[in-house]
Amino acid sequence: MSIFIGGAWPYANGSLHLGHIAALLPGDILARYYRLKGEKVLYVSGSDCNGTPISIRANAEGVSVQEIADRYHAEFADCFLKLGFTYDLYTRTDGAFHHQVVQDVFLTLLDNGYLFKNEVEQAYCETDERFLPDRFVEGTCPNCGSRARGDQCDVCGSILDPLDLIDPTCKLCGNTPVVRKTEHFYFKLSAFQELLASYVAEAKQAGRWRENAIHQSERYLQEGLHDRAASRDLPNGVNIPVAGYEDKKVYVWIEAVTGYLSASHEWAEQCGLSDTDFWNGETVSYYVHGKDNIPFHTIIWPAILAGIGKADAIPTHIVSNEYLTLEKQKLSTSRNWAVWVPDVLERYHPDSLRYFLTANAPENRDADFSWREFIYSHNSELLGAYGNFVNRTLKFVEKSYDGIVPNAEIHPSIQHAITDLYPAVGSLIERGNCKEALEAIFHFVRQANKYFDDQQPWKQVKEDPEACDRTMATCVYIIANLTQLLSPFLPFASEAVKQMLNLPSFIWNETNPKVGKLQSISPLFERIPVERIEEEVLKLQQNAR
Ligand code: MF3
Ligand code: ZN
Repeated sequence: MSIFIGGAWPYANGSLHLGHIAALLPGDILARYYRLKGEKVLYVSGSDCNGTPISIRANAEGVSVQEIADRYHAEFADCFLKLGFTYDLYTRTDGAFHHQVVQDVFLTLLDNGYLFKNEVEQAYCETDERFLPDRFVEGTCPNCGSRARGDQCDVCGSILDPLDLIDPTCKLCGNTPVVRKTEHFYFKLSAFQELLASYVAEAKQAGRWRENAIHQSERYLQEGLHDRAASRDLPNGVNIPVAGYEDKKVYVWIEAVTGYLSASHEWAEQCGLSDTDFWNGETVSYYVHGKDNIPFHTIIWPAILAGIGKADAIPTHIVSNEYLTLEKQKLSTSRNWAVWVPDVLERYHPDSLRYFLTANAPENRDADFSWREFIYSHNSELLGAYGNFVNRTLKFVEKSYDGIVPNAEIHPSIQHAITDLYPAVGSLIERGNCKEALEAIFHFVRQANKYFDDQQPWKQVKEDPEACDRTMATCVYIIANLTQLLSPFLPFASEAVKQMLNLPSFIWNETNPKVGKLQSISPLFERIPVERIEEEVLKLQQNAR
């Protein structure tokens, strides 16, 4: 089986915050899981280096778009690495490879009759002698009277056209733009209405998409799909590969989603392999992103694929997350109400973050990150349940068995339960229910601790050494399996346990390895002092604007 996993492409215009990671993490869990199962996996993503947000940042700082893109792309790559993300390729949309593939896709759509020219009226600045990108026009929102940008009003949330604004001004020079006619390419999205309607109905039937993806897509389809602009006047991006249109860019949504295909081709070229297995009717594909990205993955991207003759490669699984709130408030980058990834990684274990963001994932409704919950979840669940089981077992073997794991019968019903856990957890992950999957494993962790307590090996060792042998062999067996089961979720801790027990490569099956002598034992996690809660919350509040 071939599994394609596409993680959403973060805009390279500012640091990643925990909201990004909460949305993207299921992608890495899926990739690690399917690799353990021995499937062929391709997991790609990259930095979105085009579009207006990044040029606004560049303007504000007085540096080039390139400089901003380079800075954040490097930072993203570093953060993903430190968080253990195992992309097969993490690339960027300002590379030559991506530009080429987007232009090819554009020309194929044109050849196939899915692009047409359309005359539109647009804001033009006579001082700067250019058509203005939406966000380069500012003015008064016709809806609520606040100051708004040409694409959207942040105060009332309404989606705007720059020509709707009252008293519009050019963001570059401050003068009033005029209205001029210009030609743009349009994408015939309406041609895919029927195809997409049956596609969404089928996905709903099969339960392969998140609820929010089904709802949003159905809404779009009920309103009827409208043809959409495919070219834009943008400050940076991929040039339209048609004579006379070179100064216009491919509309960022068509361009960004095509990154899945370009990254796949780029990966194939780098490895000297073919990627055709990842783009056919047999491919299982997962698209992992936040809810604001849904229509681009359930409507636009499938339409593009169908339009270039790859209708059978349209997404099979949509893993669209709700939002993460912070201390019960909406995350806001402009207010600096966010926990920034480069900062948090300096003080906390990546597996603590992965654990929290999975156990409290915004799968079906918004979820909250609070410093209190985060620190308690680390101390009482990750360290208190799992870390403690590993530690108490290995310490006991070290102390009472000179670090040599006794060879004895594994408790049969425990072996049974472990064997059943693999397919149970696996099918939850395959459905994108990482939260429930992790819960199932931790349910077992608690049972394992109870088994240890019930057996009382500290008494058995004196009163019934053979029983104690069985207890310890069983506990080490549990650890060997837990560390495998948890490796998609907690890769760093699993790697550490693997070293201590000298385990063979992980697989997705019950295992009973001969462990023998333990390597040097150290606790998996450190307790986080609870005083940190107040410190972190205070810091958050002080830094907010
Ligand atoms: N950069 C965009 C965003 O963060 C798009 C992400 S996903 C893509 O919203 F596939 F469309 F690129
Ligand atoms: Zn101007």
